[in-house]
Amino acid sequence: DKNDQANGNYKLQDLEQNREDSTEQFLTTNQGVRINDNQNSLKAGERGATLLEDFILREKITHFDHERIPERIVHARGAGAHGYFQVYESMAKYTKAKFLQDPSVKTPVFVRFSTVAGSRGSTDLARDIRGFAVKFYTEEGNYDLVGNNAPVFFIQDAMKFPDLVHSVKPEPHNEIPQAAAAHDTFWDFVSLMPESMHAIFWAMSDRAIPRSFRMMEGFGVHTFRFINEEGKSHFVKFHWKPLLGLHSVLWDEATRISGKDPDFHRRDLWDAIEAGVYPEYEFGVQIIAEEDEHKFEFDLLDPTKIIPEELVPVQRIGKMILNRNPDNFFAETEQIAFHPGHIVPGIDFTNDPLLQGRLFSYLDTQLSRLGGPNFHEIPINRPIAPIHNNQRDSQMRQMINKGRVSYDPNSLGGGCPFQAMMTEGGFHSYEERIDARKVRARSESFRDHFTQPALFYHSQSEAEKKHMIDAFSFELGKVEMVAIRQRMVNMLTQIDKDLANKVAANLGLTAQNPEQPINHSFGADTDPNKVQPTDKR
Ligand code: HEM
Repeated sequence: DKNDQANGNYKLQDLEQNREDSTEQFLTTNQGVRINDNQNSLKAGERGATLLEDFILREKITHFDHERIPERIVHARGAGAHGYFQVYESMAKYTKAKFLQDPSVKTPVFVRFSTVAGSRGSTDLARDIRGFAVKFYTEEGNYDLVGNNAPVFFIQDAMKFPDLVHSVKPEPHNEIPQAAAAHDTFWDFVSLMPESMHAIFWAMSDRAIPRSFRMMEGFGVHTFRFINEEGKSHFVKFHWKPLLGLHSVLWDEATRISGKDPDFHRRDLWDAIEAGVYPEYEFGVQIIAEEDEHKFEFDLLDPTKIIPEELVPVQRIGKMILNRNPDNFFAETEQIAFHPGHIVPGIDFTNDPLLQGRLFSYLDTQLSRLGGPNFHEIPINRPIAPIHNNQRDSQMRQMINKGRVSYDPNSLGGGCPFQAMMTEGGFHSYEERIDARKVRARSESFRDHFTQPALFYHSQSEAEKKHMIDAFSFELGKVEMVAIRQRMVNMLTQIDKDLANKVAANLGLTAQNPEQPINHSFGADTDPNKVQPTDKR
C-alpha cells in the first residue's frame, strides 16, 4: 500500500509472501505430509537394505542432489543487500523516469557487489574490479544499473568479451590461478590490446583492493541517455559516491586478510547492516547536451574513457541507503538477475558497442543459469509494477493466466492486455537519426588508448604511484614468459616512461619504446603491423 511505498518497504512486503519461518512448525515433505522419523531410512528389517518405497528419503536426497545451479560466468563471487533510493529534487528537466521525480518517494533497491574473475568461493580481497549492480524496483518496472567500481572497461567492443574473460579466468589446463590476474594468459592478452590500458591502470591501483564495499565508488561506465517528457535527450554518465569516502587496503594487508578471512567484504557489509550502520551512497550524474556530443577529444561512446570531472562536474542527485540483509543468500543474492537492458521510460541506451553487446548477453546467460524464461517470476526478480502480457508456459511457470486469448490483436477480448500510449507510460525508444553503411569496424575516434591512463596515473599521490609500480611488478613477476613481460613494459612506455622504467628494473628488464605499438582492434586491413599476435614472440 501507499504507506509501504512511502517507507521504501514495498519490495520487502512483496517478498513477505515467499518468506518462510519454520520455528515451532512440524517437519513435512514437499507435499505437506508430516514426517515422523527424520533419522532413519525405511528398511527391510533393522539390519536390512533400504526400500525403494521410501518416498521421504527419495524426495530428500533428490532435492539435495540438485541444489547447485551454475555460478555466474563472471562476477560469480558476490554479496547483496536491500535498501532504498531517494532523489534530492526532481530531475524532470532531463528525464521523465518516475523514480527521479519526487523527493518524497523511496524506491526499493537490491544491490549486489562482486568480484569479476574468481569463482563463488574465492577470496573477497583479490586484486580485481568490483561489480556494483543496483536493481531499482520502480513503479514503472525494474531499472537495473549494472555497474563496476571502475569507470572504464578493458575492451571497446563486445566482440572481445569472451577473449578477455578467457584470458583472465584460471588457465584451462590446470585451473590456476583462482581469482588473480597474475598469470601469463591475462598479460599476454592485455599486452596485445592497447585499449585495455586505462582499465589496467585502474586494476593496478588501490581501487582494486577496496577496504569495504561501503567505501568504494560505482560507475555505470557507458554513456546512457536521459529522455524528458518532451522527448529531448541528454547524454548521462552515472556515478555512486560512498558517504564513508573511498578507502583501500595495502597489498600486504589484502593477502593476509585473504588467508585469515576470505569473507572479509561480505562479513563487513553484513555486520554493518546488522549493527544499524547503514551504507550510504550518493547518486551522481554527469549530463552532456546532445549538441556537445563531439566537443571532447575522446568519443562519448568509447567505454575505455571517462569524462574528467573538471570538464563536466558530477551533480549529486539522490541517495541510496542499504538497510536490510537478505534472509536467504541463495533465494536473493544468488538468484537475482541484473541486466543492463532493464530500463524504464526516461532512460535509454547509446550506441556504445560494448553496451550493445551486453544488451544481448545477460538475458541469454540467465536463461541457462536460472533454468528457463520464467526467472522474472522468482521473488527477488519480480517487479512491484504489475506484469500483463501474452507470454505463456515453459519451465517453472508460476503465473496462472486466465482466459482463451493469448495473442494480440484479437476480437475475442477476455483478459487480453492493451498497449499503453506514451502519455500512459508506454516505453518509446529514443528516435536517434541513423544514416550509415553496414560495416564491421572500429571508429577512428576510439584510437587514443594512452592519454587517459596517463591522466589517471598522474592524478595519483606519490604513495599511490608507488603502489601501482609495486602492483605491476608483482603481477608481471608472476608471468613466466619473458616475452610477455617485455611486451607489457614496452607498452607502459607509451603511458609513462618513469613508471615503465621502474617496473622494468624490478623485473630485470629494460623498457623499450615499441616502434609500432601493436593494435589489432582496427582490423587486419587497417592494422599497420598486419602481424598475427603469435608471430610477435
Ligand atoms: C555480470 C556479460 C561488461 C558489470 C555479467 C554476466 C555476464 C556478463 C554474462 C553474468 C550475469 C548473470 O549470470 O546473471 C558481460 C558482457 C560484457 C560485460 C558480454 C561486455 C561485452 C560489463 C561491464 C560492466 C559489467 C562494462 C560494468 C559496467 C557486470 C556486473 C555483473 C556482471 C556488475 C554482476 C551482476 C550481479 O551482481 O549479478 N556480465 N559483461 N559487465 N557484469 Fe557484465
